[in-house]
Amino acid sequence: MTATALMTTTMAPESASLSPALDLPDTFEAKNGVMCTVRQMGRDDIPQIAVLQKAFLDAADPKTKGYILCKEVTDFEALFDGGGTAIGFFDGDKLVAQTLVRMPAADHPGTGLEYIDLNVPKDHVSIAQGVIVHPEYQSGSGLGSGLTSLWKGAMGTLGRDRLYAKIEVTNWKSLLMFLHAGFQISALLRNDTDRRQTFLVEGTPWAARHNGPAENLETYDLTDISGIKGALASGMRSVGVRHDPDGGATVVQFLPAPDPQPVS
Ligand SMILES: CC(C)(COP(=O)(O)OP(=O)(O)OC[C@H]1O[C@@H](n2cnc3c(N)ncnc32)[C@H](O)[C@@H]1OP(=O)(O)O)[C@@H](O)C(=O)NCCC(=O)NCCS
Repeated sequence: MTATALMTTTMAPESASLSPALDLPDTFEAKNGVMCTVRQMGRDDIPQIAVLQKAFLDAADPKTKGYILCKEVTDFEALFDGGGTAIGFFDGDKLVAQTLVRMPAADHPGTGLEYIDLNVPKDHVSIAQGVIVHPEYQSGSGLGSGLTSLWKGAMGTLGRDRLYAKIEVTNWKSLLMFLHAGFQISALLRNDTDRRQTFLVEGTPWAARHNGPAENLETYDLTDISGIKGALASGMRSVGVRHDPDGGATVVQFLPAPDPQPVS
């Protein structure tokens, strides 16, 4: 059954989402063989979304709690009432992974990134938020990468070709997931209230992972904010993350900046 069919057969008219039906497969197989059902979610799924958010919070420590901007039920309602949607992976009846998707338009222009000039028509933009894989299903299951890939594809079908996400700078796993999906760090942002540093990553539906040789990449420690800023300012492209499981440095990998072209 397609996502479109599911929407029309399972959603009561009064709870139907304002967002367009996403082009999604029926299933996604995790790397450990768990076969998940894929479903576009709407207002009716808010209780499950809240349960998954709580599972994330319960497992998080004070540092990692900030990886998600935790939402209230009213925030989820506002997302769905404002043309947004969500992609869910279910193991049986249990929601095990989700991406919340903002899709701004003329009548609901909010991007959540108002302080950045995206310089692109709103109806080309899509922002992934609240990406959560249930703690028992994380780290190598491929569910996070799977969600990102399905989000990219579904947005491409809708003509939304400027895709964004915000990632806390210490969240190497999320950064790795987006960079391997072909996204790039396009800005470093600092929240004036809590001074947390965040990467803005940007991609397109057809963005692909960098597959070139790794030896000529320049690397910056994830904590070296000024080094990373300098790399971005000089036009270098972020293409990957190398994490040391033994507690050593986690580094962002950059392609060297292209040589300036002579002016003819
Ligand atoms: C970030 C998150 C969504 C990633 O989902 P996931 O299912 O754990 O990640 P995946 O299994 O898809 O792995 C993504 C990549 O990271 C790598 N990875 C994941 N865990 C890893 C680990 N412990 N060590 C090394 N690499 C790891 C995977 O190998 C994969 O790389 P690949 O593309 O080369 O195969 C998930 O960890 C999560 O929910 N974290 C808490 C909430 C959060 O931070 N959300 C993101 C907010 S921006």
